[in-house]
Order: sequence, then structure tokens, then C-alpha cells
Amino acid sequence: MAAVTVKTRRTFLVIFLFFSLFSSSGQSSFTRQLTVQLNPGWSAPAPPGGDLLHIRAVGDNDTLHFLFCSQGAPTLLLVHTNSSSSSVKVDWTLFLARNTTGSLRVEPESSVLSSTALVFSRLLEYDDINDTASMTSDLFPPYELQNLGWSRVNSSDPFAPLCGSVVNSSGSICLQLSAFESEGRDQSWPRLLHTANSSQLGVWLDGVSPRAARSRFMLELQAVGGAYPLSRVDVHQSIDDEFTPSIFKASHWVSSANGSSEVVGFVRWRSVAFRRSKPALEDATPCRNSAPRPQSSEAAAAASGLIRAFYSNIETFGLNVSFGLAGEPFYNSTRLLSWTLLVGVGSPPVDSFSALVVAIMAVGLGAPVLVLLVGGVWICTRKRAMEQTAAYEPIN
Ligand SMILES: *[C@@H]1O[C@H](CO)[C@@H](O)[C@H](O)[C@H]1NC(C)=O
Ligand SMILES: *[C@@H]1O[C@H](CO)[C@@H](O)[C@H](O)[C@H]1NC(C)=O
Ligand SMILES: *[C@@H]1O[C@H](CO)[C@@H](O)[C@H](O)[C@H]1NC(C)=O
Ligand SMILES: *[C@@H]1O[C@H](CO)[C@@H](O)[C@H](O)[C@H]1NC(C)=O
Ligand SMILES: *[C@@H]1O[C@H](CO)[C@@H](O)[C@H](O)[C@H]1NC(C)=O
Ligand SMILES: *[C@@H]1O[C@H](CO)[C@@H](O)[C@H](O)[C@H]1NC(C)=O
Ligand SMILES: *[C@@H]1O[C@H](CO)[C@@H](O)[C@H](O)[C@H]1NC(C)=O
Ligand SMILES: *[C@@H]1O[C@H](CO)[C@@H](O)[C@H](O)[C@H]1NC(C)=O
Ligand SMILES: *[C@@H]1O[C@H](CO)[C@@H](O)[C@H](O)[C@H]1NC(C)=O
Ligand SMILES: *[C@@H]1O[C@H](CO)[C@@H](O)[C@H](O)[C@H]1NC(C)=O
Repeated sequence: MAAVTVKTRRTFLVIFLFFSLFSSSGQSSFTRQLTVQLNPGWSAPAPPGGDLLHIRAVGDNDTLHFLFCSQGAPTLLLVHTNSSSSSVKVDWTLFLARNTTGSLRVEPESSVLSSTALVFSRLLEYDDINDTASMTSDLFPPYELQNLGWSRVNSSDPFAPLCGSVVNSSGSICLQLSAFESEGRDQSWPRLLHTANSSQLGVWLDGVSPRAARSRFMLELQAVGGAYPLSRVDVHQSIDDEFTPSIFKASHWVSSANGSSEVVGFVRWRSVAFRRSKPALEDATPCRNSAPRPQSSEAAAAASGLIRAFYSNIETFGLNVSFGLAGEPFYNSTRLLSWTLLVGVGSPPVDSFSALVVAIMAVGLGAPVLVLLVGGVWICTRKRAMEQTAAYEPIN
């Protein structure tokens, strides 16, 4: 009995190791070297109006520049270059005046392959009086995120949350950026898969006083691109919810080169937000997005200092992400909403079954097949043996 248990356990282990090797060989080998700089080129204590965080992620022969800025509406700009020595140059006088294009440049200019920016433009609140969660319900005046007072970034902890206090409310909206050297997954839900080619943004609304008991919130995002703006949202369905239980959908807001199917840049999220900061499964609430629509690029540039500084010729698409469906608890139930998204270049990473699940499936499906096979062979040989004995009988 004990011998059998040991043997099965060993079989599990062997299969598990085999699939771990198998499934990890293709990924995770690609890494980037990260360097972080706060307000590059600025020497005085802190520039007035907001900070600029620069993360340089150098690959074999390319570089990703992540620029996260709170001059105006919070903005993440991602520039991909084909050189491992490209750099960011800021003319701070012009940058702070926020009225000139080219005050922030990535050099050499000829090395720039693509760029994408995501502007967090507005927080919208509506009174869902009939609990229909219709995105076109009675809206309160929106919170323009460019007008909030944003916290300062401290160079000793540049990845600390960036929080803006919401007017007439003790609460705040916070954003937290993470950048990665290699592939992996956060410990906390929704446990998005990230790669070295992407960064993650956590967004949460903490303690904002709702203006009605049945308030729900929406977040308006603007994507700005040069040659390839993020113009469509693909919904990715998967039966695999191992890392985000019961959530089977992810949205990929993508740009494509010249209408081809090759994706140049993306924003990806799971269709879920959470009502607590350390959520349990029942704290999940679905989120939805509207279709991306062309927006005024002038408005985006006016709202975000980084957009004005970097882009001259742009196209802008915007969409709203709305939290909660009809019948779900309202914001007032916990006064917290937390949502996570990924911004990167290339195709969005998609979840695949983990080694453990594959091993379990292999054992679960493989064992019965093995039993059938062995059983079949045994029956066949038995039958043949009996036929052979039977064939001799008449002679006897
Ligand atoms: C990129 O780097 C690899 C080695 O890391 C090298 O073999 C290859 O020639 C480089 N490509 C270019 C275009 O420089
Ligand atoms: C930018 O603004 C500054 C003052 O804020 C002004 O002196 C300058 O003329 C403006 N430049 C342009 C090109 O509008
Ligand atoms: C990429 O690198 C090559 C060689 O350094 C350069 O000639 C080219 O202009 C760069 N830019 C793009 C967009 O390919
Ligand atoms: C809520 O329902 C009432 C009664 O059905 C209706 O008169 C009212 O217009 C609805 N309000 C909204 C915002 O849909
Ligand atoms: C940054 O954080 C450190 C330690 O938390 C603190 O001592 C320092 O005063 C902070 N600097 C600024 C500019 O807030
Ligand atoms: C904040 O409160 C003041 C006075 O109570 C009001 O005039 C103003 O519109 C409020 N602002 C927002 C964004 O609700
Ligand atoms: C990340 O980008 C590098 C360079 O463009 C590419 O070689 C690599 O395959 C990408 N990795 C993933 C996981 O997309
Ligand atoms: C939110 O709920 C609390 C009790 O949970 C209640 O006292 C408060 O009035 C509600 N807020 C609004 C805006 O209705
Ligand atoms: C992109 O589209 C333009 C016209 O819209 C066309 O002239 C050009 O050849 C296309 N480029 C590629 C690489 O398909
Ligand atoms: C988001 O929703 C608000 C209110 O319905 C609307 O005014 C705004 O145009 C929407 N934004 C986008 C980008 O669709």
C-alpha cells in the first residue's frame, strides 16, 4: 500500500517536473535591465506642478522608455527604440511652461520604433437610482484628474502610489506603476501575467465620498499614439481562470500597423475590479468598457504636460471603463474600488495553463486512457490465448 502511494507520488512529480521544464523553456529567458530616474536633468528639489519618473528598460538591442508624469492628468508614455543607448532629454523650462512640443525628446530620433501614451483624464460618477448600471445615467459633474492635487514622488521610493485628493471628499484616487525585468505575475489579484515588455498600473479609489447612496464610478482613459494609435478593443476569452477565479474575459486595447493584424502596442486588463484592497473572491466586481472613440487631441495635449511635450502629430482614442453591473453592490458599500491594467509593446501576453494544471490534466486524462489501453491489451491477449486453446480442442 505504502509502496503504491510512493510510486504514484513519484509519477506525479516526474510529470510535474516534465511539464514545468517544458512550459518554462519558451518564456522567462528574456530580461531587461531597469534603471530608474526621477525628474531626469532637473537638479533643484522638486519641479513645480508634478514629477516625471523615467524607467529605462534595456534589452539586447532595444530600449523601452517608460515615462510616468503628474504634470496635469496622470500619463504613462511608452517609447520603444531600436537602440540600447537611446536616452531621454528634457528641456525643463519649456516642459514646465507646457505649451511647446519637443520639450521632451527621445534621442536619437531615428531610433524610435513606436510610442503609446495613456492619459487618465476623468473620473465620472453617476447616480444609479434604478440599479441598471447604464453608462448613460444621471452624471454628476466629472472630476477632471488634471485639476487634482497630486502627491509628490519621493526618489527614495519612486514606485510608491501617486495619489490625488478628490475635491470635496476625504478620499483619493491613486495610481501605482510597476516595471519588470522579466516575466512574472503579481501576488495579488487579478494576478495579471506581465513580461519585460510591459508595465503594470494599479488604479484605486479610496474613501471618495459618493454624491449619492447608489453612486457608481467610471474612469475615462485617452490613448494617444503617433503612427499607430490604440484604436480597437479585442475581447480575449479563455476557459482558464486559474489566476483570476471566475473571470474568463480580458480586454486588449491595441494598435495595429496600417490595418494589419500585427499589434504594435497594447493596454490589457481583466474584466474585473475589486471592492477591497486585500480582496477575497466575493469582493470582485465586473467592469466593462465602451468602444474606443476618436477624441480631440488638442484636449489631451492640454490636459497632460507629457503629451504636449512629446507629441506633435497625434491621434487620440478614448474609452470609459465602468465598474459594477446591475445588481452589484454600490460604491458606498466599501468605498473602495481597485483595478489593474498592463501597458506594453508588441502583443499582449496571454495566460496559458500552468504546469500544475497541465500535469493534473495529463494525469486526469492520461490515467484512464492508460487503464483502457492496458485493459484492452490484456483482454486481447487473454482472448487470443483462449482462441488458441479453443483452436486445438477439436483435434483433441
Ligand atoms: C541584436 O543582438 C544580438 C545579440 O544579442 C546580435 O546577434 C544581433 O546582431 C543584434 N541585432 C542588431 C540589429 O544589432
Ligand atoms: C509659453 O508660455 C510662456 C509663459 O507661460 C510664454 O512666455 C511663451 O510665450 C509661451 N510660448 C508659446 C510658444 O506659446
Ligand atoms: C534602427 O536602427 C538602424 C541602425 O541603427 C537605423 O538606421 C534606423 O533608422 C533605426 N530606426 C528604425 C525605426 O528602424
Ligand atoms: C427610474 O425608474 C423610474 C420609474 O420606473 C423612471 O421614471 C425614471 O426615469 C428612472 N430613472 C432613471 C435614471 O433611469
Ligand atoms: C523621502 O522619503 C524619505 C524616507 O521615507 C524621507 O526621509 C524624505 O524626507 C522624503 N523626501 C521627500 C522630498 O519627501
Ligand atoms: C465642491 O463643493 C463646493 C461647495 O460646496 C461646490 O461649489 C463645488 O462644485 C464642489 N466641487 C465638486 C467637484 O463637486
Ligand atoms: C519583448 O521584446 C523583445 C524585443 O523586441 C522581443 O525579442 C521579445 O520576444 C519580447 N518578449 C515578449 C514576451 O513579448
Ligand atoms: C453610505 O453608507 C453609509 C452607511 O453604510 C450611510 O451612512 C451613508 O449615508 C451612505 N452615503 C451616502 C452618500 O448615501
Ligand atoms: C500603409 O498604408 C499606406 C496608405 O494608407 C500605404 O501607402 C503604405 O504602403 C502602407 N504601408 C505598409 C507597410 O503596408
Ligand atoms: C465617457 O462617458 C461620459 C459620460 O457618459 C461621456 O461624456 C464621455 O464622452 C465618455 N468618454 C468616452 C471617451 O467615450
